[in-house]
Amino acid sequence: MSTTATPALELSGIEMHYGFVRALDDIDFHVMPGEVVGLLGDNGAGKSTLLKVMSGAHRPSHGTIRVHGREHAFHAPSDAADAGVQMVYQDLSLVEPQDIAINLNLGQETLRKGPLGWLGFIDRKAMRRSSELELDRLGVRTAPMTRPVEMLSGGQRQVVALARSAIRVSGESRGILLLDEPTAALGYEQTRQVEALIRRMADQGIAIVVVTHDLPLCYEVTDRLVILNRGRKVADLPTAGADRDHVVGWITGSRASMFAEAAS
Ligand SMILES: Nc1ncnc2c1ncn2[C@@H]1O[C@H](COP(=O)(O)OP(=O)(O)OP(=O)(O)O)[C@@H](O)[C@H]1O
Ligand SMILES: [Mg+2]
Repeated sequence: MSTTATPALELSGIEMHYGFVRALDDIDFHVMPGEVVGLLGDNGAGKSTLLKVMSGAHRPSHGTIRVHGREHAFHAPSDAADAGVQMVYQDLSLVEPQDIAINLNLGQETLRKGPLGWLGFIDRKAMRRSSELELDRLGVRTAPMTRPVEMLSGGQRQVVALARSAIRVSGESRGILLLDEPTAALGYEQTRQVEALIRRMADQGIAIVVVTHDLPLCYEVTDRLVILNRGRKVADLPTAGADRDHVVGWITGSRASMFAEAAS
């Protein structure tokens, strides 16, 4: 793991309201470069809301966001993306009739100079070749590059969407990857691929936040667990040595917050 002392992403005092519903209450959160943090909590605890704040999809009512020490106000996901924060939107953002290679390169299509020089066009062959190399590097295998996304299963689409975000952040070691239940629709083999992908990205220095209800996956890939209960952070501890019964207790609310004494 990295020895850098500045978090890749740091949130302080985050409050988020949906009308009268307080979805997030004074949340402090950070993830270091090369660290994988598992964000846990029961349904409605505020996990997706917190990821949306991190990814610029929601503006918090209060609180600050820092990326590698610099304060940012995200007005849109593109602001977060510019700062190196990539959220994986599961199957929403794939272009159905296009093949896997095109989808992996959306927005950054490989342009080849045409005979007119300035008239670039998409070089599909080069794109397929580089996409295959990228996926090999990431250890991901789904289906042939030329297969249209509309012919993939839900799980295969999810792997393509994840791989695309991984490719986008993997150019820069300072990237931050946010995953909301990345294995929810996946079978055994593809869950293993996603676990390996998460570890490989972290080893490259990428900071990763993964929301999941899958505790075995958490113990497999995360370095630290942050647990939310009804919009409050109730635990933040290293995964190694974290007692499963305690973790479940914090998730369900049967165990008191680690921060209870500090707050009173
Ligand atoms: N768009 C919205 N409008 C109003 N309330 C919302 C909205 N989105 C979420 N909420 C509320 O905010 C709270 C946190 O929801 P959130 O989606 O962050 O939970 P979650 O931890 O991701 O749950 P799950 O595990 O079910 O995905 C819940 O009480 C939810 O009802
Ligand atoms: Mg959610």
